[in-house]
Amino acid sequence: MTADNAASYGFFDDENREYVVTEPRTPYPWINYLGSENFFSLISNTAGGYSFYRDAKFRRLTRYRYNNVPMDDGGRYFYIRDGETIWNPGWKPTRTELDDYSCRHGMGYTRVAGAKNGLHCDVLFFVPPGDNVEIQKLTLRNDSQEEKQVQLFSLLEWCLWNAEDDTTNFQRNYSTGEVEVENSTIYHKTEYRERRNHYAFYHCNAELAGFDTSRDSFLGPYNGFDQPEAVTSGKPGNSIAHGWSPIASHAVDITLAPGESRELVFLLGYLEVAEEHKWESPGVINKAPAHELIARYGTVEQADASFAELGTYWENLLGGFQLQSHDPRLDRMVNIWNQYQCMVTFNMSRSASFFEAGIGRGMGFRDSNQDLLGFFHLQPERARERILDIAATQFEDGSVYHQYQPLTKRGNAAIGGNFNDDPLWLICSTTAYLRETGDFSILEQQVPFGNDENNCASMLEHLRRSFDHVTNNLGPHKLPLIGRADWNDCLNLNCFSTDPNESFQTTENKAGAIAESLMIAGAFVLYGTEYTDLCRHLGDDAEADRAGAAVRAMEQAVIEHGWDGEWFLRAYDAAGNKVGSNENEESKIFIESQGFCAMAGIGLEQGLVEKSLDSVQEHLDTPYGIVLNYPAFTRYHLEYGEISTYPPGYKENGGIFCHNNPWVMIGETVLGRGDQAYDYYCKQAPAFQDHVNLRKIEPYAYAQMVAGKEAPLPGEAKNSWLTGTAAWNYHTITEHILGIKPRFEGLLLDPCIPTAWQGYTVQRQFRGKQASIRVHNPDGVSKGVKRITLNGKEVAGQIVDLSACGDSCEIEVWMGGAG
Ligand code: BGC
Ligand code: NOJ
Repeated sequence: MTADNAASYGFFDDENREYVVTEPRTPYPWINYLGSENFFSLISNTAGGYSFYRDAKFRRLTRYRYNNVPMDDGGRYFYIRDGETIWNPGWKPTRTELDDYSCRHGMGYTRVAGAKNGLHCDVLFFVPPGDNVEIQKLTLRNDSQEEKQVQLFSLLEWCLWNAEDDTTNFQRNYSTGEVEVENSTIYHKTEYRERRNHYAFYHCNAELAGFDTSRDSFLGPYNGFDQPEAVTSGKPGNSIAHGWSPIASHAVDITLAPGESRELVFLLGYLEVAEEHKWESPGVINKAPAHELIARYGTVEQADASFAELGTYWENLLGGFQLQSHDPRLDRMVNIWNQYQCMVTFNMSRSASFFEAGIGRGMGFRDSNQDLLGFFHLQPERARERILDIAATQFEDGSVYHQYQPLTKRGNAAIGGNFNDDPLWLICSTTAYLRETGDFSILEQQVPFGNDENNCASMLEHLRRSFDHVTNNLGPHKLPLIGRADWNDCLNLNCFSTDPNESFQTTENKAGAIAESLMIAGAFVLYGTEYTDLCRHLGDDAEADRAGAAVRAMEQAVIEHGWDGEWFLRAYDAAGNKVGSNENEESKIFIESQGFCAMAGIGLEQGLVEKSLDSVQEHLDTPYGIVLNYPAFTRYHLEYGEISTYPPGYKENGGIFCHNNPWVMIGETVLGRGDQAYDYYCKQAPAFQDHVNLRKIEPYAYAQMVAGKEAPLPGEAKNSWLTGTAAWNYHTITEHILGIKPRFEGLLLDPCIPTAWQGYTVQRQFRGKQASIRVHNPDGVSKGVKRITLNGKEVAGQIVDLSACGDSCEIEVWMGGAG
């Protein structure tokens, strides 16, 4: 066993769909997400993190300090004072050595357990579907031979709602904090006296020995979380916060006979109250809604029942796609963790993780569209709503707000725009939604332009505007103009920034209709073809012909002006010079245009796709995945923008930017090279990685970026969880490798797998039917299907129409050469 082995920190418990952390000192906090609707919590393996309601910036419930020392200090903590020993079941913040420790991250819940001196404490954290509350069920057990008399203290710190203001505007904030305490419930009501219609509470179902709501009183002004004065002295202060930093801490005295245990329920709740019902009496908040919420979850039985419901909720969700293959690592990615991460990216976009501070970024237009690729099968109704929300941030000319705020669903002008790839992602998501659900009614839905309800058009018209936005913005080579940037935010060809305080993402761009993108060209051919097929399917031949002609013209332009000899160019810059060409000194080859042109099959017959992907393998492939560009920029190039600001090997400059690796995998399946496609897949899929100390981040989550071959530490990952990598990998493995592809007419079965695979089975829900699919590969091929049966009957072609089946059906697929 090498020192850098996954087993040194924990293991997968697939049966329970959990990752079990067995060592609290993980290389970086390994987190989980609680909640999948409106109330969300981030929780690390030592119970660090925070909670928010819908918007991590504007409705932050509890406080968290990013980039803090010690790392990941602050969260929801339980302190146990047992004689002279003070400890936490999750090890932090006291870091008292534990006799036993584990953290089980599961589907929407985390269970942290520790043992010390004969006491065992287990805390289960989860958010029940349908309500805005985090439930914390704590069990304390006396495993010793003696009676134990202990004090238990809870702790969380309130955030004054606006997370950005909370960390900066102290001249105001130190005066505004307000709380109320009623029996065992602590209420946080800062700014409720004025414009806020919401408050939060932290409740404990036991009688209290005391409490604290002032941080200074609880900790002592100069102490950290590791030495709270109330706990070290054993004396809660019963403090009421007036300004400064309000917290919530309950103190409970517990006596346990040998073998005895005690269960407690803590609730962190969020409530909104209508203006006319805000007050119970002058200055006293209306607590009736909180009482109701507490009455629903406040007992151990209720908490247990609700936890069981959460289990059923996830069982149903994940039941939509279940694979049985020869490799448990693959099964665990497909059946559990990749689907789970897709739910997280659907909800968070790029807002809140342990790398995204939750204040900077709302819902991204391109990000949210792509995140849907891994989400349609989970909750199609929510996907539909999301598509409509996104589409409403599009303008009449097809351009879009680059981001919108989740609370208001309105576009955010401050964040910049003019990314010319954006509109196409709406076609990508909507056509994929149609293929999954067959719900063509969405196309007739009236959707605003620019969030203006008085100016609407059908969803189908929005797609046309997206399509036309590309053809209306072509450059000198009849290739798409790049605008501020395309998918690669950092390839800013019109920026020319010399001021280090300017953001490349928002600074005013130079006017110019020169710089062109081959990535957008590839995307236009791919998604433009999907739009064309849709129009054809709808019977609008005139529009299909018009669109088809534009797509063919683009293909022609790519072949004429976008081919560099061994690979596709990346772009033309603002001076009309080639970017990503063998003629360039740095960054001769980029991944995005190879991926997109390959997926679109541009020049397939002439062998361009094969050449381009061979070049990817030769120049960009590494043991940890495919780097974005090579050789990385070694100096700042004014004409390329942010991409050249990153040190070589990091992020968009020669990093393994995992999001785009699946494009190459799909490209490989276009060529039928199943071994190569799957090899790339395994290099990225978290469950296949066994170098945890190097990789650092969660063994169950994809990262946005892994340091590339030119970085000092290749293989080191950063930015886990919130990345398009999740959706794209899920889409790639399920549709393009396992080959189960939703089509308007049914399921297209077209695997592209390693030749060594003998077969696999998949349980797939599709439009209300349960399909049981068995794939056989007797001849050891990568691609090619010779026979398909549906319920034992031969099917013509590769598309299986399930509409005539009952609730469930059996599909068998035999791969192999023709005949
Ligand atoms: C990052 C990109 C990110 C962009 C927008 C850049 O610094 O490298 O990955 O998308 O900022 O926030
Ligand atoms: C992260 C952003 O969220 C995404 O929109 C972008 O495509 C990538 N960075 C690449 O720059």
